[in-house]
This record gives sequence, structure tokens and C-alpha cells, in this order.
Amino acid sequence: MGQTLTEKILDDHLVEGELETGEEIGIEIDQVLTQDTTGTMVWLQFEAMGLDEVQTEIAAQYCDHQTYQFDFKNTDDHRFLRSAAGTYGAHFSRPGNGICHNVHKENFAAPGKTMLGSDSHTPTPGGLGELAIGAGGIDVTVAMGGAPYYIEMPEVVNVRLEGELPEWATAKDVILEMLRRLSVKGGVGKVLEYTGPGVETLSVPERTTITNMGTELGATSSIFPTDEKTKDYLARQGREEDFVEVGPDEDAEYDDEIVVDLSDLEPLIAEPSMPDNVVPVREVEGVEVSQVMIGSCTNGGYEDILPAAKMLEGREINKKTEMIVAPGSKQASEMLARDGWVAEMMAAGVNFSEATCGACIGIGHVPASDSVSLRTFNRNFEGRSGIDDDSVYLCSPEVAAAAALKGEIVDPRDLADELGDLEDPGFELPDEYDGSKADLISPDEAVDDELVKGPNIKDVPLKDALDAELSGENLLKMEDNITTDHITPANADALMYRSNIPEYAKFTLTRIDETFPERAEAADGGVLVAGENYGQGSSREHAAMCPMYLGIDAVFAQSFARIHKANLFNFGIVPFIIDEDTYAKIDQGDELTVVDDIREGVESGQEEFTVSVNGDWEFTATLDASERERDMLAVGGKLPWTKQRAQGG
Ligand code: F3S
Repeated sequence: MGQTLTEKILDDHLVEGELETGEEIGIEIDQVLTQDTTGTMVWLQFEAMGLDEVQTEIAAQYCDHQTYQFDFKNTDDHRFLRSAAGTYGAHFSRPGNGICHNVHKENFAAPGKTMLGSDSHTPTPGGLGELAIGAGGIDVTVAMGGAPYYIEMPEVVNVRLEGELPEWATAKDVILEMLRRLSVKGGVGKVLEYTGPGVETLSVPERTTITNMGTELGATSSIFPTDEKTKDYLARQGREEDFVEVGPDEDAEYDDEIVVDLSDLEPLIAEPSMPDNVVPVREVEGVEVSQVMIGSCTNGGYEDILPAAKMLEGREINKKTEMIVAPGSKQASEMLARDGWVAEMMAAGVNFSEATCGACIGIGHVPASDSVSLRTFNRNFEGRSGIDDDSVYLCSPEVAAAAALKGEIVDPRDLADELGDLEDPGFELPDEYDGSKADLISPDEAVDDELVKGPNIKDVPLKDALDAELSGENLLKMEDNITTDHITPANADALMYRSNIPEYAKFTLTRIDETFPERAEAADGGVLVAGENYGQGSSREHAAMCPMYLGIDAVFAQSFARIHKANLFNFGIVPFIIDEDTYAKIDQGDELTVVDDIREGVESGQEEFTVSVNGDWEFTATLDASERERDMLAVGGKLPWTKQRAQGG
């Protein structure tokens, strides 16, 4: 039986396991990417592993999310990140050089390679035939240390593209159509593999708009085969040598198939406040628009901005509307400036911003209250723009430019009829991408050889290997559905300590009990007890790291949320499962002692452990863990485990 492209790339990189849907596989990682909000912890963990240099072919550190400096903390973070990249052999992209996915696409993305990134839109280079997956910081750290990445073998779905996009329909409309059909949950546990005759009608930047926003479908990754268009794009970026032909076998078998006829598409728009609230633009014509923004990792390329610039040439935007263009990379800004398009847009009334994520996460250009903002971004979750009552629509640059001209939402086909001289600008690649590389520092050009840590950057705490004895006071008894936000709050006051675990730990579980951190410290650690679904919510690693720092050795819960349970293993905390009756009987303040030799039990695959409560009564706690998770627990978590393996231990 033939293989899909996803299977081929995974097979080429397979280190452990078999390519059976749902089975855990270990794969070798060729490239890693990290950005400024997740990168500090990635490098602090890398330092804690005690390795000298990155082991992947490419490691790249970008500074894109928080490039506006409000106080010393972001600047300190960026200085630390440059020093870490220089010290350990990664590429460093300076603040203002652009969004990680755009700059990575321009400089490093390569067909047939695997990539792991600590950012959810990491799958963007799938448009060039690279299998790229978003992951937690610690996964990126260990991959950078040369260890495999473990993942459940996803389903592979064939998204067959037919026909050709008609006038005014764009790649953004392809992915909006996918969201309309599948919803934001439709891609979970799946790789979306694009095939069919429609593929060759799309250029690489159009393909990366589609793969980028596969994340909004919840997909593990999205990928296109390579062809002449890929070769041509790489040649224009001066990287023809990175081209290899990759694609599925003709008789590849997929888990599912979706057909999208490109010729049926029309301009679409996602209404507030979910990327899958998709309707034809014509259904919402006439809505007054206060702000229009073009940019982001989805539609911030030179080729994305050019059509909007052409539509604005010789015209002025509506007086009711503000328009901001924030290119995805400095390469795009520089080329648009050199070709005269920046001046053209400014003359039309556009405010030109630096290349940054910025507004996409509510940093800068926050819309006015109770107003409509039309954006070419990928997410419009309520409040993400920086104001609670926002009303953000997502669309293509063409629809955004049309709205800026009209002052209200309008299908560009209707605006063209109204104006008489507005033509579909089409989608064009420059002959050569000739932006400067001044802001990209390669490992050979590194200007640092030691880590520079500002006062808010503290070493990562490590846990000792598991002892034979595990005993401690139940420091907190919690209800069902405790979220990672309860465990480590994500408000601005707390989050500014994301690179400073001793400070961040002072916020641990304070949403439930203000005295918890003090009590934990006074007792020199202990254990926690919770009901069902402990640790639901975000994948935040701090929710395991901060309790670990405070000396928590085990959590006894009726059940755990999947990602948080993995994080507990990663940071050496034993996640025991207990039944409802046991939960009801344990009180806060009880002394819990595992009667068995815990270290031996964990290592030997023991699943049931006897636990004594105050020496008065006993219960059975279950440990449900894979061999790898048991190995990690025994040595104190994923970092020490990876370190030992790297040293051949
Ligand atoms: Fe940045 Fe927004 Fe993309 S935060 S990485 S532009 S999704």
C-alpha cells in the first residue's frame, strides 16, 4: 500500500514506534523554532540540561510577540535570547525583523524536513512540504537537545483541491471555507494533506496562508506536496538548493477525504468572535468599519500586501476608517518600501507599522470600544484584540482594502462594479526576494558566548530523582475541573514572571487559597488532592513547574486533563488516580504516605500503590503511565531524563 506524504516524512524520521493511527511514535526533529514569549523558558531549560550546543540542523530564535518595549523586562528578555542563541548555536532574529513563521518561511523552511516550534502556528511551512508541529516549550528544548519528539500518530486527511480560484477569491477564502465546513474542532488529531489538480494553481505564499490557519481547525499540521511552484519560490528566495520533490504515492490511502472546488469559492469573512463563523462577504455588506488591519503570520507577506496596495493606488481610504499595515517581516517592509508601495499606501491614508505580532495579541492598535475591526489575521477570539467588547472580522487583504475604501464591509466585486475602474489585482511574486539579512544573526556571526540574564530571568528549578519514600501533607483539597489558570494565573501581574519561577510560584493556587504558597513553603512541600478533570485548560507548563518548585511530589485526583497530566510527568510530579469514595474521605491536612517503595514501583511498572492516611486507614492509588513516563518520573522529569539519554545514561 502506498504512503501519504505525512507517512513518508514520519517514516524517514521514525526513531520509535509504528505508524499506526493513535499509537505513540518518536520522531527525529530537523528544525526548531521559538519566539520571545515562549523562548526564555526553552533556553533556561536547555541550560538546565547542561548541553553545550543545539543538536538540530536549524534552531531559530525569533523576537516577534512583544517587540514594543514598555519597561526593561521585554528588552532584558530579548537580550537574554540573543545571548542564548549565540551561546548554544541558534540563529537569532532581532526584534522588528518579523514574525517567526514569516521569517522562517523566507530563510529556513525546507521540503521533507520535520520541525517543532513553541508556537501554535508552527505548521505554516507545510506550504513548502515541511512537516511542522506546534508543541510545548519543554518538547522544543529536548528536541533541540537531540532527543526524539513523541506524538500519537495522527489521522491523515486528503484535502483534494480542484479547479482554480475565480477573480477576487483568494487562498484566505480556501481556509475560511475549510473552517466553515469543519469548525474549529474539525482538524483535531489530524494532519490535513492537500492534493489534487488545484494545488499547482496556488503559489507557495498562498499555500502557507492555508497551512498557517490549519491551526484554527485544531489540526496537528497541514502540508502540501512540492512541485515547480515550490522550486520557483525557493529560487526567488535564493535557496534553490533546498528544493526536493516530496509528495504522496499515487495509491496512498487516507483516513478521510474532503473535496474543495476552488472555482466555487467567493470572498468569505469570519464574523466575531470565532474563526469558524464564516459567511460570504455579501451577507454582511454595509457594516460600518472603524479599523482595518493587514498583517500577521497568515497574510503579512509582500505578496499579501501588494494586492491591497494596488487597490489603494491613487485613491484615499474612507474618512470614517483607520487602516494599519503591519507586514509579517522586514523583508516584506523593505521590499514594499523600495518598490514605492509604502509611499503609495501612506498617500492613501495607511499607517505603516513595524513587522510584529503586536495587534494580533492585543499589543498596540487596540480597536475603539464598541466598534468593528476588519483584520487579515487568523484569530478573532473575544477580547484578543485588547478590548473585551471587540468585534473583529477575519478576511483576505482584498476584502480588507475594499472595506477601507468604502468605510464599510463590501464584497470587492460589488465595489469594483460601483467604482468602475477597480480590477482584481491578482497575486504576484516578486522576481527576487532581495531584503537584507541585517537583522538575522547566524551562529557563525554570534556576538555573544555567554548567557546574559537580567534581574527578572531566573534559573529553572530542577527536581531530584524519586526517592524510595513518598510522604507529605495534603496541602490543598480541591473540587472538580480545576484549570491551569487556577493553578498558575495568566493575568499580566503574574505572567510578567514567566521567566522567573521563584516569583511566579508565589501565585500558585492563590485563586483557591491565598495562603497556599506560604503554607507549601513552610511545610517544605507535600501533596495535592483534587476531584475530576484536574488541570484542564491551556497547555501551560508553569502549572506543573510552579507546584514542583514549591515541593509538591504527587497529585491525587479522580482524573486529569490530558496535557496537564503529561506536564506533571515532565516535571517529576506523580499523578495518582483515586476513586470517588477515597476523595470524599481525605481531608486537607491529612498526612499521606505511599506504603510501597515508590521508586521501585514506578520503575517496575507497578500500577496500584497502597497509601496510608495518618497511619489510620489505607487506600489504593493507581498510576497509569507509559514506560517512557515512568522513566521520566524516576529521574525527576523530562529534563534530567533527556540529559541522561544525551549522555548515554
Ligand atoms: Fe503572532 Fe498572531 Fe501569528 S501572535 S505568531 S501573528 S497568530
